[in-house]
Amino acid sequence: MSEVLLVERDGRVAILTINRPDKLNALNGEVRDALVATLDELACDDGVGVVVVTGAGEKAFVAGADIAEFEGRSPFDQRHAMRSPRIFDAMATFGKPVIAMINGFCLGGGCELAMSCDIRVASETARFGQPEINLGLIPGGGGTQRMPRLVGVGQTLRLVLSGEMISAAEARAIGLVELVYAPGELRAETLKLAAKIAAKSPLTLRIAKEAARAAERLPLEDGIAYERDLFCLAFSTEDKAEGVKAFLEKRPAEWKGR
Ligand code: COA
Repeated sequence: MSEVLLVERDGRVAILTINRPDKLNALNGEVRDALVATLDELACDDGVGVVVVTGAGEKAFVAGADIAEFEGRSPFDQRHAMRSPRIFDAMATFGKPVIAMINGFCLGGGCELAMSCDIRVASETARFGQPEINLGLIPGGGGTQRMPRLVGVGQTLRLVLSGEMISAAEARAIGLVELVYAPGELRAETLKLAAKIAAKSPLTLRIAKEAARAAERLPLEDGIAYERDLFCLAFSTEDKAEGVKAFLEKRPAEWKGR
């Protein structure tokens, strides 16, 4: 466990807390490396079914990339800093569900991190935006590509071109977040959802995430064909046999992850 990334367990849920509250949890190289390394470890941990990502303190989820690192940096150094594996892709392609628990400012790379997660749960006090335009920059963590897929090109351009922040209520209304809770309820409600998901078959969760994520890159016809293949792949699992049998026997299924 690194100091900038705290890792806790709550049953089958791993909670990753980005821990730079005095810098509003801005993403520097150390945080990025810790996130990628921790996800790598959790990928092989059968005791973890779901990952929740959040920010330390009351004020911020993540207020963006660490702007201090940008000063004086050459385009070549910046390109090196943006080399693969990137945290955004690591979240999106992680073989288990990842939930963003958004407790405050969710800006720039923070908003891009949240958009890379599978589900976004926000506090009523959270604020969202892509303010890079105010730095003479554009989003560089997938913001111009992932945001249109969630909220459409019009709302994306409104946020990217104006740099303005929106409330959690508005983020919910445009589809940037899925759920919004009062600040005091955020953690309990997010962990309740995470635990519910973590109790499903890890194998089936993986197949479901793979199928839905494919919608981000495939044309409809190809996506439908891919879903059919994945559906039939699910037929090869012991968990499918158990799930169907348990339903017919009117008892809860016992998942094996096989
Ligand atoms: N990178 C580096 N440091 C950051 C940061 C970032 N993205 N966001 C906030 N911080 C730091 C501030 O510099 C300040 O540090 P200091 O106490 O050493 O001076 C500390 O976090 C607290 O932020 P502060 O600006 O004082 O809080 P605020 O409540 O007045 O404003 C924000 C909050 C989010 C509006 C403001 O911090 C902000 O605009 N941050 C940058 C957001 C951004 O542009 N993100 C995209 C980056 S590409």
